[in-house]
Amino acid sequence: MKPRDRLRIAMQKSGRLTEPAQELLARCGLKFRQSRDKLFCFGEGEPVDLLLVRDDDIPGLIAEGVCDLGIVGRNVLREFQLSNPATGSGLAELRPLGFGSCRLSIALPQDEPYDSPQQLHGQRIATSYPGLLGDWLRSHNVDAKVVYLAGSVEIAPRLGTADAICDLVSSGATLVANQLREAAVIVESEAVLAGHSVLPSDERGEIAELLLRRLDGVIQVRDSRLILMQASRDALPAITRLLPGLPIPTLTQVDGAPDQVVLQALCAGSVSWRQLEDMKRAGARDMLVLPVEKMLA
Ligand code: PRP
Ligand code: ZN
Repeated sequence: MKPRDRLRIAMQKSGRLTEPAQELLARCGLKFRQSRDKLFCFGEGEPVDLLLVRDDDIPGLIAEGVCDLGIVGRNVLREFQLSNPATGSGLAELRPLGFGSCRLSIALPQDEPYDSPQQLHGQRIATSYPGLLGDWLRSHNVDAKVVYLAGSVEIAPRLGTADAICDLVSSGATLVANQLREAAVIVESEAVLAGHSVLPSDERGEIAELLLRRLDGVIQVRDSRLILMQASRDALPAITRLLPGLPIPTLTQVDGAPDQVVLQALCAGSVSWRQLEDMKRAGARDMLVLPVEKMLA
């Protein structure tokens, strides 16, 4: 196989992660040719191409070297690592991406009470995640039977093929529709950037590093707000303590009013009305909260 000089990223062809993943890459300045229904998208600016596949195939494609990186649920990555320890150990979660959050949970028929994992002894639990479920059961010393199902896990209890299920829960609508209720969370999941724990030492590695830096910038910007306000100098200690993420503010003197300053600070995370009102009570005036478009340290 001829070594590739372009980076290749695998992502879900159609599903929950597709749109936010594409948006994230666009924010990193990546543009792709070819329509979405095609498997392969050629990168126009940077030497980065996209492969659109089934999410469950992504870790394997990275492990085999067909792709360098992948945007995939943490649950899918960890399941692959548990069921393919030899190849999976070379893979790593390079960045959490902050979207597609869901959880892998054990769910029971609605009317069944749940107090502790021990209650699952001797039960049949249907799942598409035998690795993660098996691991959790072992760590809780529970001897249950794992019934592997590739899909439609949620109907297993009604069909009588299982007593409980272990599946992804996002809104919870699927559980409700199937008269199930969430009993225990096994894995908190979200979309992650997966790749080899050691980046290639060639050109592709350099492109991957560039992409990681841009991604960090995009994630930081997405989670940042610029806050501006006026205050008197003696109110500053109280206001500064209330700034989300406790940033070090920049102060500018107000002309003709020596005891007045304009405070500017980059806050981590959103700034709520409640937080603004608290700062107002502490003496802040004319407050502005602005989104940040780009950031480069
Ligand atoms: C998951 C899971 C449930 C559903 C739960 O499948 O298997 O069917 O989502 O979501 P809800 O709590 O919002 O109803 P998903 O669509 O992620 O597809 P996949 O696991 O087959 O890739
Ligand atoms: Zn899937």
